[in-house]
Amino acid sequence: MNILAFESSCDETAAAVVQDGRRVLSDAILSQADMHAVYGGVVPEIASRKHVEAIAALADKALADAGLTRSGIGAVAVTYGPGLIGALLVAVNFAKSAAYALGKPLIPVHHLRGHIAANYLAFPELEPPFLALCISGGNSMIVDVAGYTDMTILGATRDDAAGECFDKIARVLGLPYPGGKPMDDLAQGGDPAKYPLPRAKVAGNDLDMSFSGLKTAAVNLVHNASQKGEALDRSSLAASVAAAISDELVPRAMEAARRTGRNILAAAGGVAANSVIRADLERACRENGLTLYLPPLSLCGDNGAMIGSQAYYEYLAGNLGDAALNAYANLEI
Ligand code: KG4
Repeated sequence: MNILAFESSCDETAAAVVQDGRRVLSDAILSQADMHAVYGGVVPEIASRKHVEAIAALADKALADAGLTRSGIGAVAVTYGPGLIGALLVAVNFAKSAAYALGKPLIPVHHLRGHIAANYLAFPELEPPFLALCISGGNSMIVDVAGYTDMTILGATRDDAAGECFDKIARVLGLPYPGGKPMDDLAQGGDPAKYPLPRAKVAGNDLDMSFSGLKTAAVNLVHNASQKGEALDRSSLAASVAAAISDELVPRAMEAARRTGRNILAAAGGVAANSVIRADLERACRENGLTLYLPPLSLCGDNGAMIGSQAYYEYLAGNLGDAALNAYANLEI
């Protein structure tokens, strides 16, 4: 079945056609990052307006790139949360109208379930059960994927997401938004041990994470250096930040695997593009006998294809929406 899928939860408008959950027929994305860069972060109202402008043309492009007409579509899928509420509502309303007009089922998809499903597109052999490390601009969590639509959060951030931590530290270093990739580039050749940054231990669930202390420590370090007129080794600071963020994530993912007995780990989300985290995950999985799936960089960030993939499994499970479907800024996985 060909699913036409939409995504507008943050600052990417995306439409894609995916066949039977695994084969990408088209994947049209329009990033608004340049528009938000001047403000140093996503401005929700601008995001919503730009989604409205782009979504119809992207739907046409997704169909044309797939070589299909409307009659070739079997269902319509959409991200309905979590994310920026005004932004989410654009694709939700567009998808509801499209499903109604085509007379096809409507499939609501959780954004993070979509990120996890990006792995199904890259790795045909991957099937649940496995563990997923979901690390994006808005979320950081370790998820037990017992089945395609059966997921449990084993640990999550108590405050900022890993991507937010990269982005905010990048901002005080004067790097462009979104700062994760520029931080990654800056870190190349830096000394990750030069600037000791805190590693958080949280009370209660020790698989939970925290990034706000690390973020504040790095921001204070930059401000103190500038107030004292001291030179900063920017490359080593970026490398130290990446090492600290990776230390929050990788050992907890290994501990989650040990506790659950799962022997497959899949990474997901924009921060999964980070070179230090990828290298650390590869090393740790090798040492712990886990099979690691790292999606290609093109599938780590927000895209419509991942929504089309997860939608297929939601459809098989009977998880359908209707004209009353709403969008949710916060949504349990
Ligand atoms: O998954 P995503 O595209 O959007 C959300 O659903 O949040 O993730 C965006 C996040 C941003 O915080 C961005 O800075 C970060 O992913 N990111 C990276 C890298 N590439 C993107 N963070 C660290 N290293 C990277 N190479």
